[in-house]
Amino acid sequence: MEISEKLFSAAWDAARNSYSPYSKFRVGAAILCGDGSIITGTNVENRSFGLTICAERSALVAAVSAGRQDFKAIAIATPDASYAVSPCGACRQVLTEFFPPDAQVEFGNKPENRVHCTIGALMPYDALHDLAH
Ligand code: THU
Repeated sequence: MEISEKLFSAAWDAARNSYSPYSKFRVGAAILCGDGSIITGTNVENRSFGLTICAERSALVAAVSAGRQDFKAIAIATPDASYAVSPCGACRQVLTEFFPPDAQVEFGNKPENRVHCTIGALMPYDALHDLAH
């Protein structure tokens, strides 16, 4: 499945809501749910820097809070970057809690510069899913 223009565009739009006065680095994320709905998130920084929440986790928490747990794809937009920025290690771990390894990922700093991969590629040798059952 190719990630649609619509999903990346939703991520791009979500970056406009970024609260990033410290890094001035806006990030937007958009999750495609199994029912076809799209839920977005953005990075929310804090003056205690370590409490910053990335866009990917922000979107995931919003989606689960809205009753979704079946996810197909995620798009991430980093409009302030000079290259396509991939999710950080913490976000990769959190995404694998719900996203299957074959879920599609796309990240880009502009619509015409996007990298496409899968959750499994970002987080190989993922483990311990049996703890949830
Ligand atoms: N950030 C994200 O939201 N997602 C990423 O994948 C990389 C980093 C945010 C955290 C912080 O607000 C800013 O980008 C700079 O690190």
